Amino acid sequence: MYICLEGIDGSGKSTQIALLEKWLKDCGFDVIQIFEPTDSSVGNLIREMLKSPKATDRDFQRTLGLLFAADRMILMEKIKDAELLGKIVISDRCFFSSMVYQDEEEWISKINKFVKKPDIVILLDLNAETALKRCEGKDHFENKIFLERIRDQYLELAENSGFFVVNANTGINKVHEDIKKIISPKLGMCI
Ligand code: TYD
Repeated sequence: MYICLEGIDGSGKSTQIALLEKWLKDCGFDVIQIFEPTDSSVGNLIREMLKSPKATDRDFQRTLGLLFAADRMILMEKIKDAELLGKIVISDRCFFSSMVYQDEEEWISKINKFVKKPDIVILLDLNAETALKRCEGKDHFENKIFLERIRDQYLELAENSGFFVVNANTGINKVHEDIKKIISPKLGMCI
């Protein structure tokens, strides 16, 4: 099973992924964590590029869209191998990040045609102001107007693509419980 957590920067994905991994392992599942951008050379190039003041420009975004698609394609083998071994894959971001951050949905879908889509996508929904306070402006994607637009696009995509949406502003433990409630029936567990 391939589970992905999505959300704007500062929505708490890393914390929730760590808690989710621990809970699933405690329940006896074999789990691997992955993240996008990855730690491949393409992923590292992306991280460098995200620091550029031009990071939100249209053409720059198109270049990033292509790089993210390549980085993701490299990751596919890892996901397939893990699933063949019956592992649960938890991912920090996936194809849907490109759909909202790089925009231009039709083109992004095309260049990501061969990537695997997650079985479960959970959107951690948070307003831009709170998210910004949490992430202290690490890169140029982290400004309020930009994040507000990304949040709106996530919510629209969630409705059209069947994501589970969790309010990420209710405290770490409540968010974790909400995520468990979504995942446990998919794994045949009662909590
Ligand atoms: P993030 O998950 O915030 O990584 P880190 O934990 O290293 O801060 O991802 C970095 C940025 O990459 C984030 O602002 C969203 C962006 N991004 C895209 O623009 N498109 C994509 O397809 C992906 C996966 C991420």
